[in-house]
Amino acid sequence: MRLIVTKISVGLWAAAYIKNTVKQFAPTLDKPFVIGLPTGSTVLDMYAILRTFAKERLLNFQHIITFNMDEYVGLPAGHPQSYHSYMQRNLFDHVNLLPEHIFMPNGQAQDLIQECTHYEEAMVQAGGIDLFIGGIGRNGHIAFNEPGTSFNSRTHVADLTPSTREANARFFQNDLSRVPRQAITVGIGTILDAKELLFIASGVKKAAAVTHLVTQPATPSWPLTALKLHPRATLLADLEACVLLSGDLKTQLDEAMQADPHAEQWVLSVENKEEL
Ligand code: GLP
Repeated sequence: MRLIVTKISVGLWAAAYIKNTVKQFAPTLDKPFVIGLPTGSTVLDMYAILRTFAKERLLNFQHIITFNMDEYVGLPAGHPQSYHSYMQRNLFDHVNLLPEHIFMPNGQAQDLIQECTHYEEAMVQAGGIDLFIGGIGRNGHIAFNEPGTSFNSRTHVADLTPSTREANARFFQNDLSRVPRQAITVGIGTILDAKELLFIASGVKKAAAVTHLVTQPATPSWPLTALKLHPRATLLADLEACVLLSGDLKTQLDEAMQADPHAEQWVLSVENKEEL
């Protein structure tokens, strides 16, 4: 996989990447572009820029199908902190996506297991995910796949760890008791089935997770290390998220920066050590 370290905002970088990838794909009614989407604060800028692209007619969402990664269990869709509300606010209300092209897990389904099965089926029916965008948790979770989740996992109901609930308490008036305990999440296997992955890490709070990704072999203890098993995976990180880099990758980054100090980004190659 590759690690792209960027000096420009990760949101701008990711939005431009999505625009260019969709343009190149040239989606049509018969050949829609299927994108997996995350929530979280890291990607707020990305959505802001995607909205601008849509407004300026630089990106047409007509033949795009979206699948969100996750949703809290038990929060009504209209709750301001549900991922449904987040997506309406940040993207869906502002672009020309067709309502029938928007897929999100229903965290209020009567039968959550059946909801998970249907979600997987819907992705297959759409032809699979062309590009999965994701953020990462401080403990290395991807979507809501917490440490220890199998790399073969499919869409399932996940128990959120105390650290994830604490990290997300800021969205619930810092009241931990209000933070849901479970979520429906796509599995790591579901993510790995996408044709391409672009995950994003921003800020010093993600630095430990980024270091584990680059220094450790793929291990379920750090779910984001699954990215190393994918043939077309990128982790996009800002400089702050790379402050704890050490060893080979630190050397690679220092050398790349010295060779081209004015570049907006540096592309590094990350091996899965077990495969060496
Ligand atoms: C939640 C989401 C993840 C996201 C993470 C990071 O836990 N389920 O998909 O990656 O938040 O959020 P932030 O970008 O706010 O740090």
